[in-house]
Amino acid sequence: MKRQGISYSELRVPVYRSWSEEGFLLTCGDHAAGKFNTMTVGWGSLGCMWKRPMAMVVVRPHRYTYQFMEEYPDFTISHFPSGHGEALAYCGSHSGRDVNKIEECGLTPVASSKVGSPGFEEADLIIECSKIYFDDFKPDHFLADFIEENYPAKDYHRLYLGEIKAVFGTEEYRI
Ligand SMILES: Cc1cc2nc3c(=O)[nH]c(=O)nc-3n(C[C@H](O)[C@H](O)[C@H](O)COP(=O)(O)O)c2cc1C
Repeated sequence: MKRQGISYSELRVPVYRSWSEEGFLLTCGDHAAGKFNTMTVGWGSLGCMWKRPMAMVVVRPHRYTYQFMEEYPDFTISHFPSGHGEALAYCGSHSGRDVNKIEECGLTPVASSKVGSPGFEEADLIIECSKIYFDDFKPDHFLADFIEENYPAKDYHRLYLGEIKAVFGTEEYRI
């Protein structure tokens, strides 16, 4: 995929569609050491925090990826062009504890420019992030009834904020 560096102020992402309807692969670990895992994420955001470009992801504690998010200092989120729906569905329904999802989906990890976690050659957008904050959702802070319905097992997500260190995307992502 032909990606180029895009500065955050020139980045254009259809955010709700990209997260909720299409999804990203959240990848965390050490590419050089061959230790990383990936999973599909549909909840998160892109924005600005503490005067820095920021990406937010939320990960339930029993995900295998959670262990990597706890151990490693950075992560990437990769978006894919149409035609990769099956791969996203697979990586969102199988655990890296049980299968080699990346191999099964025919995806090709690629080294990042600023972080140790890899992106994927097949992605049309890769956002490299360095972790700067985490917190756990607290049910007594929920201000709307519909939120708790997402947690029948009380497995409240851990939220991670990442400072965006680099963005590589196809031309359509540049303003
Ligand atoms: C479309 C879609 C979106 C998802 N979004 C999230 C998410 O934002 N956070 C989360 O913890 N799990 C999410 N999941 C579930 C994980 O991707 C899934 O449990 C995955 O198998 C975990 O893999 P792992 O055990 O290798 O980490 C999503 C799944 C799908 C299919």
